Amino acid sequence: MTAEFTSIVADSRLGGQKWDRMIFGHFIEHFHTQIYGGLYEPGSPLSDDRGFRMDVIEAMRELKTPIMRWPGGNYVSDHHWYEAVGRDRIASYNKAWRVPEPNTFGTDEFIAWCKEVGCEPYICTNGGNGTAEEMSNWVEYCNGRYDTRYAMQRQQNGNQKPFGVKYWGIGNESYGDWQIGAKTVSEWGPYVAESAKMMRAVDEDIILSAAAVPDTEWTLALLRAAGRYLDLVSIHGYWDRLSQVENPSDYMTAIMQSENPGQMITQTRNVIGAAGFTGKVKIAFDEWNLRGWHHPDGTGDDKINARDLNDIPQTYTMADALFSASFLNACLRNGDVVTMANMAPSVNTRGPLYAHKNGVVKRTTFHTMKMYVDQVRELMIDARVDGPQLTHGGKSVARVDAIVSKDNAGTTVTLVNRDPSAAAGCRIVLDGQALQGEFTADILEGDSPDAFNSVEAPNAVVPRQAVLADQDGIYSIPPHALCMLHIPA
Ligand code: AHR
Repeated sequence: MTAEFTSIVADSRLGGQKWDRMIFGHFIEHFHTQIYGGLYEPGSPLSDDRGFRMDVIEAMRELKTPIMRWPGGNYVSDHHWYEAVGRDRIASYNKAWRVPEPNTFGTDEFIAWCKEVGCEPYICTNGGNGTAEEMSNWVEYCNGRYDTRYAMQRQQNGNQKPFGVKYWGIGNESYGDWQIGAKTVSEWGPYVAESAKMMRAVDEDIILSAAAVPDTEWTLALLRAAGRYLDLVSIHGYWDRLSQVENPSDYMTAIMQSENPGQMITQTRNVIGAAGFTGKVKIAFDEWNLRGWHHPDGTGDDKINARDLNDIPQTYTMADALFSASFLNACLRNGDVVTMANMAPSVNTRGPLYAHKNGVVKRTTFHTMKMYVDQVRELMIDARVDGPQLTHGGKSVARVDAIVSKDNAGTTVTLVNRDPSAAAGCRIVLDGQALQGEFTADILEGDSPDAFNSVEAPNAVVPRQAVLADQDGIYSIPPHALCMLHIPA
């Protein structure tokens, strides 16, 4: 253990902040094997008669998945929902990903899958080569109550009752030239306003987001033109950028990114404030992952096949697990403004679940998500964290990241020791009392910072239960570990 310790001081007598469970949300895209050969595999002995992989569903239930965003991502900028419903489905060529799309998994299948998992569907509409008309017709197909064209189409497809899809998004990263039908700053606001008006004219109760970015130019213009129709701005973050070159950063380089999500949230909060929408428009961090997906540009087989590199199990280490913990900490600390976050993606590519033909591997990030979902308590207590820094490559982050949550049954102190090799001493003061004595803890650490799970060794990184005792008021947290320390009321 290093001589210097981190001090964590929290006082629940000053009150706490409620947070939204939607921050434990997920995202799945028609990309590589996320849908086809991931959560949907007709004919597999692991699938039900609808083609849903039941082992994947089981694991998504374990994560208490509250919401699933679909169908993209970049994919949606060239997705037309009406091509993927009903009996006669023809494959289309998806220009965003430059691959054939079979269209056999469409709206009805997605809604049925969400029902099976027990989560809310969140549909991202085509803000690329789609139109306001097409988006609002999709709302009618899903939520229409009358015997009108698209609602009747849903009924003819076997779904008498409206799906009641509450969460909708307009566009995906529509500012980026990597989208089909990307928009300019001046085009985006009016386009979103019209789309939102028409979607709400079909169902006024929907919760609506629009593609944004944490800067003033794009998002201020968006909010000025369309803020009054929106509930959320959608932002995305991938910090180890690997789309063109698959060369995942090592533990220390990756871990140096841990404080960036918090900065993005602050920037977005400020833009919302500058536009005058504080309290009315919230943040959906509806794609996030430490590592960006690998998809070099081009249509050649070498470029398309390069997507398989996303599957290399060694990529997903304790860096991914601990970065994810810090990402969730940032959302929880900003629970007044971040009301949704969606890990991107959930199955295959960079997801917490790797679905192969004989089962699923739970990657390190699965265990982080599960620990948060199960163990973070109802109220976030403001915590002051002071301690040594960890430095690498000219950057530095706090050695220990911490949050404190509380409910009637007790308090949980969540500690992330980012140090790759040294245990971290932590002094914890709760409600004016320095913590002393023995407490149970759940710890995720692996046997090295580079530990990972794979088909051959699926349980190399799994959480363990421990009892932690202080030494002279200091608790020792193992290196490269996520530790949830539980203090009963
Ligand atoms: O690299 C994957 C892509 O990342 C998603 O489709 C898109 O939304 C984001 O840019």
